[in-house]
Amino acid sequence: MMHLILADSELEINPWNRKELLDSSIHHSIMEKNRMARRRGRPDITHFFLIVAMESLLNKYGLLRVYVHTRNDEVIYIAPETRIIKNYNRFKGLILQLFEKKKVPFDNPLLVLENKSLKELIDELKGKKILFTRKGRRVEIKKLHEIMEEDVICIIGGFPSGYFLTKGIENMVDDILSIYDGMLPAWTVAMEAIAAYERFKF
Ligand SMILES: C[S@@+](CC[C@H](N)C(=O)[O-])C[C@H]1O[C@@H](n2cnc3c(N)ncnc32)[C@H](O)[C@@H]1O
Repeated sequence: MMHLILADSELEINPWNRKELLDSSIHHSIMEKNRMARRRGRPDITHFFLIVAMESLLNKYGLLRVYVHTRNDEVIYIAPETRIIKNYNRFKGLILQLFEKKKVPFDNPLLVLENKSLKELIDELKGKKILFTRKGRRVEIKKLHEIMEEDVICIIGGFPSGYFLTKGIENMVDDILSIYDGMLPAWTVAMEAIAAYERFKF
């Protein structure tokens, strides 16, 4: 099984209007005025990441579990059968509902939100823990599958710039890998990790 975690994701409610998510493409002027870090308010990263992960062959074969950990130490558990809404505004509406109700749909939940740190989430999963970051040990993409094991936990940052907010994240993992000399978006790294595990597995 591959466990895929989007860590320290910039997903939060807009503090100036709690009826919507913070979205830097819309709220940039109030964010700037209040000196809020530029990296915040990026639900689009989680959206792209979830579309790539949930529609992968690996997920269709039942070998993928996906989690979104947020900057405020919340963890979203995503049921494998979840079909991610393609429309961005409707996706944000769904996540807002999740922040309010903790489960969506409420009766037969596909998405469940719990207050939990990244460390607590990692500790409840079984497998080799791999952190993806540009600062890691450089590995050729054609060899990434050789690093995979039957059970792996792959951790990718859900933020646009800067570094992981979770302190001591390097000490929570077994390996720290870089797959390219430049910066990649989270969903590209997710796609490469999934493809490498597929090569290892099939
Ligand atoms: C847009 S980056 C975050 C920005 C960060 N300054 C960086 O350079 O990694 C999003 C995430 O994708 C992963 N990532 C980006 N570039 C990578 C690379 N070359 N190798 C491995 N992982 C990478 C990391 O997990 C990172 O946190």
